[in-house]
Amino acid sequence: MTPDLLEQGAKRAEEHAAKLAAAQGQTESGGRNAGFGRVAHASGVVDVTHGRILYLEDVNVSFDGFKAINNLSLDIAPGELRCIIGPNGAGKTTMMDIITGKTRPDSGSVFFGSTIDLLRYNEPQIAQMGIGRKFQKPTVFEQLTVFENLELALKTHKGVLPSVRFKLDSTQSDKLAELLHTVHLAESVTRSAGNLSHGQKQWLEIGMLLMQDPKLLLLDEPVAGMTDEETARTAELFLTLKGKHSLLVVEHDMSFIRTISEIVTVLCDGAVLAQGTLDQVQADERVIEVYLGR
Ligand SMILES: Nc1ncnc2c1ncn2[C@@H]1O[C@H](COP(=O)(O)OP(=O)(O)O)[C@@H](O)[C@H]1O
Ligand SMILES: [Mg+2]
Repeated sequence: MTPDLLEQGAKRAEEHAAKLAAAQGQTESGGRNAGFGRVAHASGVVDVTHGRILYLEDVNVSFDGFKAINNLSLDIAPGELRCIIGPNGAGKTTMMDIITGKTRPDSGSVFFGSTIDLLRYNEPQIAQMGIGRKFQKPTVFEQLTVFENLELALKTHKGVLPSVRFKLDSTQSDKLAELLHTVHLAESVTRSAGNLSHGQKQWLEIGMLLMQDPKLLLLDEPVAGMTDEETARTAELFLTLKGKHSLLVVEHDMSFIRTISEIVTVLCDGAVLAQGTLDQVQADERVIEVYLGR
């Protein structure tokens, strides 16, 4: 990205931030309010004309002097399904924390499209802008049904207080019905989430994220703990989502990565060690060494 572009981007991001703040009634803090904040959905604001939906450059983060992220640079194309692999402690989760505003880097740039400087926003604002994150453990509302969980995800996103009676309009109902099929839960719509299998809970949470139409989805070890069959169906699901959304998937399961991947990025010691097809990175001496040598 040229300095010129960065400058333009910063200017547009400022305008964008002002709009967001106005829409949010100046709610600075995250906390309870943030999840239900009335923020206009920034659809269409993400400028991907330069072929990048996410752009990290020279990002650094230290925790008590330990460099968890070390001059990390990475970019993702719109609609791309990028897989990230790397040994434990490589900085994969920390990278997601930075993109989603959970962790502030010490230095570097993080852009959403070519104009939105993510470092100027907090976690709820970044979520509202269209970056969805799936943590490792499923976090669904166990006492609610599958349907109610999805409905709630939409309500929360639309800024409707949970106590207010809220009826889905026909577009939203259609979307919910289609989504139930996409995430393989059409037959479980009236079951309470607490009774689903681990894999189904993960799909439900992905469905809840999808209700909010994210442009970019970050998924941290999504198939950990799944049965082989659930893993295979998750691969199918991700391939369906690719193109409509950009996905950043961190996984250790190499057969899963083999099924879904185009470009694989190997992280090690907080930086990119190698990048290419899975075959290419698996044949890379340095990659072999970090996986076998530790
Ligand atoms: N909040 C934190 N405080 C201190 N150290 C941390 C913190 N978060 C992560 N780390 C350290 O940063 C490194 C990268 O961690 P992480 O991003 O979780 O790696 P990965 O997800 O690739 O296994 C690890 O050494 C971890 O112990
Ligand atoms: Mg991790």
